[in-house]
Amino acid sequence: VAVDNYGYSHLHPKSSTEPSNDALEYALRNTAKEGLPDIAVSPLQGKFLKIQAQLVRAKSILEVGTLGGYSTIWLASSSPDVKVVSVEVNDHHAEVARANIANAGFGDRVEVKHGPGVDVIPRIAEEVKQGKRGKLDLVFIDADKENNWNYVDLAIGISHPGTLIIVDNVVRQGLLAQADTGNSRVEGARRVVEKVGQDERLDGLVLQTVGEKSYDGFLIAIVK
Ligand code: DHB
Ligand code: MG
Repeated sequence: VAVDNYGYSHLHPKSSTEPSNDALEYALRNTAKEGLPDIAVSPLQGKFLKIQAQLVRAKSILEVGTLGGYSTIWLASSSPDVKVVSVEVNDHHAEVARANIANAGFGDRVEVKHGPGVDVIPRIAEEVKQGKRGKLDLVFIDADKENNWNYVDLAIGISHPGTLIIVDNVVRQGLLAQADTGNSRVEGARRVVEKVGQDERLDGLVLQTVGEKSYDGFLIAIVK
């Protein structure tokens, strides 16, 4: 955590580029005040997402699992031209996220859609097919872990060669490597890793992380 704080204070100082620390701090404060769980990505993980979006020059981003919109704000900060659609199953969470995102000045770059991902992503796919929304350049999956693979599979249908897919919380204190946990979240993490590995459309890796979010990690995959 000390390294998180050191790195963040020097690499995203008060005077830095978007998103402003005021907007980020407001989002975290308001999220806590409204009673949402304290499980957003860390500040440097948020910055990681922003830089990944910039690397792929993302114009169209899908996020599954908005929570209070903290990671959404980071993703939306990647470019003035980006459109982010974020899916949130909990109505109250979606309302809090919309307020946090508007406060950050990104209301026109972000749409928060309320509903279960398996219902809402097909609706987003319709918008892409009708030309109302661009094919996805980046997908960030951070919702119910049991559906990780279903979300990846649905997102591939509206992706293109080069689309980057990032799945949060797959390492889970190392339990990813254990077959017999009986924990549905670990099983959701194992399933998405194994499915990505078997899928000819994808190439991927697991990136382990430490710090504020304890020992965890991302699955990162690219659409071939
Ligand atoms: C949990 C979910 C997350 O997405 C996360 O980053 C950390 C914890 C959870 O459900 O406990
Ligand atoms: Mg997460």
